[in-house]
Amino acid sequence: MSIARSTVQQLLATPADHLDREVLAKGWVRARRGNKYVQFIALNDGSCLANLQVVAAAEHFSDEALTGVANGAAVAVRGRLVASQGKGQAVEIQATEITLYGGADQETYPLQTKQHSLEFLREQAHLRPRTNTFGAVLRVRHALAYGIHKYFNDNGFYYVHTPIVTGSDAEGAGQMFRVTTLAPEHPPRTADGSVDYSEDFFGKATNLTVSGQLEAEIAAMALGKVYTFGPTFRAENSNTARHLAEFWMIEPEVAFNELPENMNLAEDFLRSLVRYALEHCAADLAFLAEHYDKDLLERLRFVADTDFERLTYTAAIEILKSAKKKFEFPVDWGTDLQSEHERYLVEQHFKKPVILTNYPKEIKAFYMKLDEDGRTVRAMDVLFPGIGEIIGGSQREEDLGKLKARMAEMHVPEEELWWYLELRKYGTAPHAGFGLGFERLVLFVTGMANIRDVIPFPRYPKNAAF
Ligand code: 4AD
Ligand code: MG
Repeated sequence: MSIARSTVQQLLATPADHLDREVLAKGWVRARRGNKYVQFIALNDGSCLANLQVVAAAEHFSDEALTGVANGAAVAVRGRLVASQGKGQAVEIQATEITLYGGADQETYPLQTKQHSLEFLREQAHLRPRTNTFGAVLRVRHALAYGIHKYFNDNGFYYVHTPIVTGSDAEGAGQMFRVTTLAPEHPPRTADGSVDYSEDFFGKATNLTVSGQLEAEIAAMALGKVYTFGPTFRAENSNTARHLAEFWMIEPEVAFNELPENMNLAEDFLRSLVRYALEHCAADLAFLAEHYDKDLLERLRFVADTDFERLTYTAAIEILKSAKKKFEFPVDWGTDLQSEHERYLVEQHFKKPVILTNYPKEIKAFYMKLDEDGRTVRAMDVLFPGIGEIIGGSQREEDLGKLKARMAEMHVPEEELWWYLELRKYGTAPHAGFGLGFERLVLFVTGMANIRDVIPFPRYPKNAAF
């Protein structure tokens, strides 16, 4: 009789009064050990961190019947789910039938049972999800993505999809990746010799988006509370543990919100997500804490329970200037903060997450609302321990005249953004939003040290393998 497959997660959660029944499990062998009377197979199917113990008694399985059932092999196991006689697991399968789908040559299988370095695993992107570490990271990543949609849905936000191919460099956030179908070796040229993008697929030069914000503003000025959650691309040559060339960004945008409400939303959102992960990823987080970051759970609980510090950029500069610490990059009013400055404020000075506001207009994007003093804008960056900037956002300039003046000052062409200007012409109103770098959140929650280890296929300078 055929029976439906159960996941390891389901089987391990089976209540005692549902045991002693026939089950079918499928997965990959993580280890096999035993003696001539009995073989123990650790089976993992990715549904959870834990393995299921499969007991193959010699009376049912000859050596030959278990040929190929070794680390890395894919198998189906049929048998009785029973209370385990051994220590370390509550239940186990007493196998009656084991089918080998595909073996794994023990001489060449890259994931031997020993520990591998994270650098080595990065080169094995096709296999690293089968390790405990990446299984845990990917499940936490999933839980956070789901938690984000749940948070917004529960709070009356609508999910909007903004374009990935765009005709404008709205953000000025960094170098963009060009999207073209023109032949690189002989593109059409205009009379003056430059590439003629009117011949290109879209009839103009196009790029991969750096942010969905400007389009999210369109939606917010109609639906009120919206958010995006999509891929963004930046060709900046930042070879750091916190930058990717392709990353996912969450960008809520809310009509009628001003800077204080924007800060409240960012703080509540982040703390809720950390709480969500603590509640739903306990086993994976405990594993990551044990192997990578012993303070992880304490730090997560602290962030979930602590009010963030809020202060202006100007006040932060004063603190940094009088700090005993010697910084690599000098600080003075008007300079952009480096990661070392951000982390000093968070980790040494305040010892908690910090929201910095009202940055000098020169170091922020054209669309941020100008403060009354004409020198600063209603920007906000949320800074996290171990990460630095995790969120960047602002109240937007809703005044048509002021926005045009800022665009002129910053050489942002009006023709490309005529529609953005029209939002200020017809029914303009205060509004605000921010962008959360998804991988930076996953980095914080998992306690991993390098952003390349929290996305399945990291893209960074000189690396687009897989
Ligand atoms: O501060 P950023 O550039 O802000 C924006 O793009 C705004 N349009 C957001 C908005 O107001 N709607 O980027 C937002 C966040 C950063 O705080 C950081 O967490 C993340 O995106 N981020 C990156 N993450 C990984 N790799 C990179 N290269 C990143 N650049 C930014
Ligand atoms: Mg930023």
